[in-house]
Amino acid sequence: KWTMAGFRDMEIARIRAQVGTGQVICGLSGGVDSSVAAVLIHEAIGEQLTCIFVDHGLLRAGEAEEVVRTFRGRFNIKLVHRDASALFLDALEGVADPETKRKTIGRLFIEVFEEEAKALGGADFLAQGTLYPDVIESVSFTGGPSVTIKSHHNVGGLPERMRMQLVEPLRELFKDEVRALGRELGIPESIVGRHPFPGPGLAIRMPGGITRDGLAMLRRADSIFLEEIRSAGLYDAIWQAFAVLLPVRTVGVMGDGRTYDQACALRAVTSTDGMTADVYPFDMGFLNRVAGRIVNEVRGINRVTYDITSKPPGTIEWE
Ligand code: XMP
Repeated sequence: KWTMAGFRDMEIARIRAQVGTGQVICGLSGGVDSSVAAVLIHEAIGEQLTCIFVDHGLLRAGEAEEVVRTFRGRFNIKLVHRDASALFLDALEGVADPETKRKTIGRLFIEVFEEEAKALGGADFLAQGTLYPDVIESVSFTGGPSVTIKSHHNVGGLPERMRMQLVEPLRELFKDEVRALGRELGIPESIVGRHPFPGPGLAIRMPGGITRDGLAMLRRADSIFLEEIRSAGLYDAIWQAFAVLLPVRTVGVMGDGRTYDQACALRAVTSTDGMTADVYPFDMGFLNRVAGRIVNEVRGINRVTYDITSKPPGTIEWE
């Protein structure tokens, strides 16, 4: 009979057989997938694993700190934390085109990652938390020409360039299975149950051009939305929820004055694998409360909208 404990043991044996006495590096993002991959590989080969966390400055409020605390403190995994936010934000300042954002982030990510890998003296293997849906979404549509809807894979090309073999222990799993495996490995619920978060982070939640001020506004609106979702007990019923800062200014009234500030959109969907998604049906009272808090607490935002598009035809992210 197939069990998650059995899968874990089998994967640990597979990793040991593949890696032998080699050194493995793993890019850690703080998300569910790379976290589960790292802890699983650490169980298999311990000190032969080093994680590299490239902090691009596009994470949600408080997340970089949590990653470092959890992996160093709780799991005792060797972790290099590189704060590269200035480098990324300088390169992204004003960039509006979604694919340019992804390419810029992907290129810098590889540069920084390579630098850190070199500083460690290199490695034989590169570990990635690739899931089954990533494997199929990055393959072209049957029969048609190769079409890229979004270039998802930020580390694409990295293993070839660095002449490393890939270790991808999750490539047969769907997200819910990865979470079950993470629980089996004792990873805290705050990480295992975390919503998926895209590699390019907040960069693709800011159409019209990235600015540091915009990022600060977006982070605040986003954390109000998530805070309200958590305190209403809705977090686990939702696949992903986030705010998008819109590049449009609209007129509002506040007290006796007129405002002319930016709008923000809220997005929340249910899904099982991210390939299709339905809008989460919040009640109006909830949405009113979130909108009220954002407009009152985030200077620069005076209007909030709720995105009611399913996937398809929409995508989950706006870019
Ligand atoms: P879309 O927007 O294509 O998103 O419906 C499907 C899932 O993929 C995530 N996503 C990304 N993940 N790099 C990533 O690592 C990306 O460039 C990227 N774009 C979208 C999205 O958050 C959702 O979970």
